[in-house]
This record gives sequence, structure tokens and C-alpha cells, in this order.
Amino acid sequence: MTNDHVDVTALQQQLQTQRAVQDAIARTFAPEDEGLRSALEAAKEAGMPEIQISPLQGKLLQFLAITCNAKKILEIGSLAGYSGIWLARALPADGRLITLEIDPKHAEAVRNSFARAGVGDRTEVRVGKAADLLPQLESEAPFDLVFIDADKAPYSEYLAWALRYTQPGSIIIADNTIRQGEGLSNPGPQADSYTTGIVEYNKRVVNNPRLLSLALAIDDDNTDGFTIAVVLPEEKRS
Ligand code: SAH
Ligand code: DHB
Ligand code: MG
Repeated sequence: MTNDHVDVTALQQQLQTQRAVQDAIARTFAPEDEGLRSALEAAKEAGMPEIQISPLQGKLLQFLAITCNAKKILEIGSLAGYSGIWLARALPADGRLITLEIDPKHAEAVRNSFARAGVGDRTEVRVGKAADLLPQLESEAPFDLVFIDADKAPYSEYLAWALRYTQPGSIIIADNTIRQGEGLSNPGPQADSYTTGIVEYNKRVVNNPRLLSLALAIDDDNTDGFTIAVVLPEEKRS
């Protein structure tokens, strides 16, 4: 079809409808309270990039954590604690969220955000490179849920640790694995390490017989989102 035959107005209307629907769902099912809003404000004031997950993504993380009855959660990449608050609120009083963050300034903001949101008691921020911190978590495993949202190139390495530190019924989630579809197609020769990282991650998840998996375009404009995977019990592996 040539451009002359594309009904631009109809497409724009459709896009507008899609956004309005997404907004309405988020407003209804994922309203932010003071704790979450102040984590966003703290990030903005500190000049951090605005790359937190969306409210609906936060609600989905919380939903998944509740569904698998999570008592221990591991997060890789904390920023200012926004996603961590959604997750920590799914924990029982004696539950634990450990979040790994390379930037000490971010880590400090996270601790403040967690305290303001009332989840300081069940959370712990560890500062350092995820690749250095992950090997030290053996004694804290198994985790019921792992959320991967740090640098994208080593996502497959993070997946290997997540698989080691989980058990049947555990849920492994990674953010930014779709990237306008780039995460789901073969990377060209010019592809950056972000793209090759997420492509490899999706391949490994989908081909792992221990996992049942799915990608969900669930960010603000449905062009990026999560790859979610549940660790299968032995008898359900293919
Ligand atoms: N999960 C957060 C957003 C995380 S942004 C939220 O949705 O609220 C990614 C974070 O990962 C940044 O804070 C960045 O400093 C951190 N990061 C990047 N590379 C890292 C690494 N190698 N190890 C640990 N943290 C890393
Ligand atoms: C980037 C990282 C994220 O975790 C995100 O949600 C969006 C962008 C980035 O590194 O560009
Ligand atoms: Mg992200």
C-alpha cells in the first residue's frame, strides 16, 4: 500500500484510543500513593533518568509476587526504589526484598524511598556491580521472584543466576526486553549491546525447558515491557 492509501486520521484515532484505554486501566488499577510518588520525585530531583517501570508494570510485579506467595524477592537495578516499593508491598511482614544497585547515590535514594513508603523494615539495598554481588547471594536463596532491570548487555548472565537461585513456582521477570520489537527479531550487524543482550535473553528464556514464558508489551505506550517466566516443576518440563 502506498502512503496515499493510509488513513492517517484513522490511525491517529486508533493510537489515541489505545493510549486512553491504557491510561484508564492504569488510573483504575494502579493508582500511586504518596510513597510511590515521592520515589518518582526523589529520582527527578536528583537528576536520575526517568526510566522507572510504569504504574501498571508495578501492579503486575506486585500481582505476580502475591501469586507466587513471595517471601524472598531479588531485584537487580533499583534506581530510586519505585519498582522495589511495588514489590516490597507484596511481602509479608517477615519477608525480604534484596535490591542490587551499582550507583551509591541511587542506593541512598532507594533507602530513603523505602523508608518513606513504609517498607524499610523488609528491604535491603546492596551497592555494587550486580555481577560481583550475585555470587554472594547463595545463602539467601532460593528467591520466589527475581526482577531484572539493570544494564541490558549482561541480562543472560543475570538469568543464569536467577535460575540458580530459584525453585519450581518462582517467577523471573525482566524489563525492557521488547524495545519496539527489536528484542524479538534477529539483531543486525549494527545492533548495540543493549539489543543483543535482550535478544539473547528472550532466546534463552523461551528455549529453556525449565521455564514457561511470555513477553508482555505493558509500558506506557505498549512498545516495551516485560519477559515473564515461571520455573516449572519437574513433571511439567518439556
Ligand atoms: N527498577 C527501577 C529502574 C532501574 S533503572 C524502577 O523501575 O524503579 C536501572 C538501574 O540499574 C540504575 O539505577 C543503574 O544505576 C543500575 N545499574 C546499571 N548497571 C548496573 C550493574 N552492572 N549492577 C547493578 N546495578 C546497575
Ligand atoms: C534503560 C534502562 C531501563 O531499565 C529502562 O527501563 C529504560 C531504559 C536504558 O538503559 O536506556
Ligand atoms: Mg527498565
